[in-house]
Amino acid sequence: MATSDPRPAGDSLVVMSDVQKHYGDFQALKDIDLTVSRGEVVVVIGPSGSGKSTLCRTINRLETITSGVITIDGKELPKEGKGLAQLRADVGMVFQSFNLFAHLTILENVTLGPIKVRGMKKADAEREARVLLERVGIVAQADKLPAQLSGGQQQRVAIARALAMKPKLMLFDEPTSALDPEMINEVLDVMVGLARDGMTMIVVTHEMGFARKAADRVIFMADGQIVEEAAPEQFFTRPESARAKDFLSKLITH
Ligand SMILES: Nc1ncnc2c1ncn2[C@@H]1O[C@H](COP(=O)(O)OP(=O)(O)OP(=O)(O)O)[C@@H](O)[C@H]1O
Ligand SMILES: [Mg+2]
Repeated sequence: MATSDPRPAGDSLVVMSDVQKHYGDFQALKDIDLTVSRGEVVVVIGPSGSGKSTLCRTINRLETITSGVITIDGKELPKEGKGLAQLRADVGMVFQSFNLFAHLTILENVTLGPIKVRGMKKADAEREARVLLERVGIVAQADKLPAQLSGGQQQRVAIARALAMKPKLMLFDEPTSALDPEMINEVLDVMVGLARDGMTMIVVTHEMGFARKAADRVIFMADGQIVEEAAPEQFFTRPESARAKDFLSKLITH
């Protein structure tokens, strides 16, 4: 696990400068300036369509940007080729849907990337995968197929799979929103553990409990812009903008 980085806290890992993103005539991201430090946990919150997923997708270049600059660990995002594959390996992503390979066992799902992309030997990859599966609490399921696991278990496999690549950064896009309520906490607990171990994380979620427990900073987006950012407690108890107040009032009453 890349958790014992010797560099001091406060060192920037992700820097987005003046980022604009258009889909045709529609502007999905406007004037985004965001710096995420190594070891920092940033929760991104905001109404549907505000650009949260687009923000995540531009950071691992699943989406290109119209203008501006994004750097990870001081390097501008590569446009294509080997550099891009390397970047994707450095940035772990966990989505709402788990996207596990249905025909591969849990263990094979976790070892595939390290073997194919990192060039690890199968035995080494399996040893590391079992450690990760242990960490997310599902090592007993290693030889099962994804369909034999609950949604919460599958999402924990997806987290283990991303961690197996030893990413510098983990992006989570609403990782618990497709789960039954009783499974949400088992996934959030794994994420809280990761945060405590020093992983740099950008997490799109409306789970306030997670934000309060694990986030260093909350970013509130609306209409493609970062409208407000604050420490979790401050954001949830004393939001400043009318948009954030309105959004939070709806979140709490549901
Ligand atoms: N591939 C695309 N082509 C055109 N428009 C898109 C595309 N992807 C997203 N958009 C638009 O960009 C805006 C931001 O979308 P995005 O998915 O980032 O929002 P979001 O904040 O993640 O919303 P949600 O909470 O519903 O997941 C939306 O208006 C969406 O319709
Ligand atoms: Mg989204």
